[in-house]
Amino acid sequence: MKVRITGTGWELPEYEADNNYLSTIVETSDEWITERTGIRKRHLVKDETTTSLAAGAAKKALLNAGMKAEEIQLLIVATISSDTETPSTACQVQALLGAAHAVAFDINAACSGFLYAVHIAEAFIKSGMYENALLIGAETLSKLVDWTDRGTCVLFGDGAGAAVLTASESQGILSQSIGSNGSKWEVLSCAGRPNQNPLCQGEGTPGYLRMDGQEVFKFAVKTVPICIEDALKKAGLSPDEVTYFLLHQANRRIIQSVAKRLKQPEERFPMNIDQCANTSAASLPILLAQMNEQGRLHPGDRLVLSGFGAGLTWGACVLEW
Ligand code: ACO
Repeated sequence: MKVRITGTGWELPEYEADNNYLSTIVETSDEWITERTGIRKRHLVKDETTTSLAAGAAKKALLNAGMKAEEIQLLIVATISSDTETPSTACQVQALLGAAHAVAFDINAACSGFLYAVHIAEAFIKSGMYENALLIGAETLSKLVDWTDRGTCVLFGDGAGAAVLTASESQGILSQSIGSNGSKWEVLSCAGRPNQNPLCQGEGTPGYLRMDGQEVFKFAVKTVPICIEDALKKAGLSPDEVTYFLLHQANRRIIQSVAKRLKQPEERFPMNIDQCANTSAASLPILLAQMNEQGRLHPGDRLVLSGFGAGLTWGACVLEW
């Protein structure tokens, strides 16, 4: 038995902020951002929330899969920017969708979150515990970034992507390779709110996203090709046999470097980073859903999805569409 993706959906906030707009907020320029990252604009929430974006993407994925919300048995939201500490975004999305029969919970694996959700869902479905899953990557990173720090605020955007997974006898997930290295957690982090119990007398305000960009860059260009090669080896495929490599949209230069290391043409590495920036856990499902909507995915296509991010975490998944 395999596990396959039967429907996808994406949702972005209405408001678009281009690089020139950001140059009115921090000392930066369209030229610097485009050259270093490939980002031209990002979508930022005004009235939308992580939950509303997640529900919007999920509704489209269900429609695309031809499924009703009540049929969903497992609902996982990957996010680091939930609207509430509790309950989970997944439970709030469950209510908005009417997915009354689903077990709903969130996971936190930053930019690898969607792949971690795929990892979990594949295991649950293969074990026979659930027949299907609705996976969502949703973020409003604009509330986590320090809007006075030009080194980070220009990199991120808000959005959500979703996918429905079901058991399948034919095509689907062929292999996965996934990992974490907690010893490097400080490279990329965002502190929670300080404890203000009478013993701690915590001071200050909730933290912002802090990143050692060059360390993350080095980690990504080294780890992602190894992880992809490992997943391909498990699937018995070579990079030449892959139709598209969908990588986490963090930086165009990282994607180009991975393409070079795998000796593959850049055309096989679709990108939307110019339009969406880095939407963390939402980045892969948004890209996948947009490609599906554009009719760029055909039965039998072999896809590699690969992500990396805070934790540090990483993962790759090989699947036949
Ligand atoms: N505009 C103009 N100048 C800037 C900006 C900006 N927005 N940001 C930084 N600079 C300046 C710096 O101050 C520095 O100036 P200096 O030389 O006078 O000190 C100069 O540009 C170079 O800065 P670097 O940090 O060395 O720039 P670099 O080429 O490394 O690019 C970047 C920075 C884009 C962040 C890159 O390191 C990168 O993409 N790293 C990976 C980030 C990533 O992939 N994150 C994904 C995970 S996110 C998650 O998991 C939530």
